[in-house]
Amino acid sequence: MRLHVADHPLVAHKLTVLRDVRTPSPTFRLLVDELVTLLAYEATRDVKVATVDITTPVTETQGVKIADPRPMIVPILRAGLGMLDGMTRLLPTAEVGFLGMQRDETTLEAVTYANRLPEDLSGRQCFLLDPMLATGGTLVAAIDYLTARGASDVTAVCLLAAPEGLKVVEDHVGDRADVSVVVAAVDERLNDKAYIVPGLGDAGDRLYGVV
Ligand code: URA
Repeated sequence: MRLHVADHPLVAHKLTVLRDVRTPSPTFRLLVDELVTLLAYEATRDVKVATVDITTPVTETQGVKIADPRPMIVPILRAGLGMLDGMTRLLPTAEVGFLGMQRDETTLEAVTYANRLPEDLSGRQCFLLDPMLATGGTLVAAIDYLTARGASDVTAVCLLAAPEGLKVVEDHVGDRADVSVVVAAVDERLNDKAYIVPGLGDAGDRLYGVV
């Protein structure tokens, strides 16, 4: 697994405001959107491109365009939805699939309750969106899901990760170079309710309100 932790003052600034318990949902949503755009820049560093011939006003030359098959962006419902616009802004030609996963609060295991994805993802680069990499259970299940359908590589874009969750993902995927995690920060630890500390609380609730 490849891990990239964004090291940028703008990311740190926006993350600080996100963490603040006083930040209201509208501001929270806006900041998540902005943060994802910054993370997406790193996450798409290895996006596949194809050479194209073009004519500039001056001469003929070659450039690149995003290659086929188009990348697939997969927000994990519900909180991953808050990251979708920021990601599609940078990759507007990508397709979007949805994966509904939630944590069973007793076992803390990931349960898939919905999916809207092609059965065949052969050769597709997939970008999983999940703000909080906490226990790692959801991410491992989602990576397995996409890999089983033929995804050529999977990049998870997260706002925060706990060291415990990163270890779970790392232990699961080993040194596979086709799995990457891009994250704004790695926090201290998980608490006994599997919340990231210091974290930002329940990302879904902060984005959309308490269900
Ligand atoms: N999910 C969240 O929304 N927040 C956490 O801290 C952990 C999991």
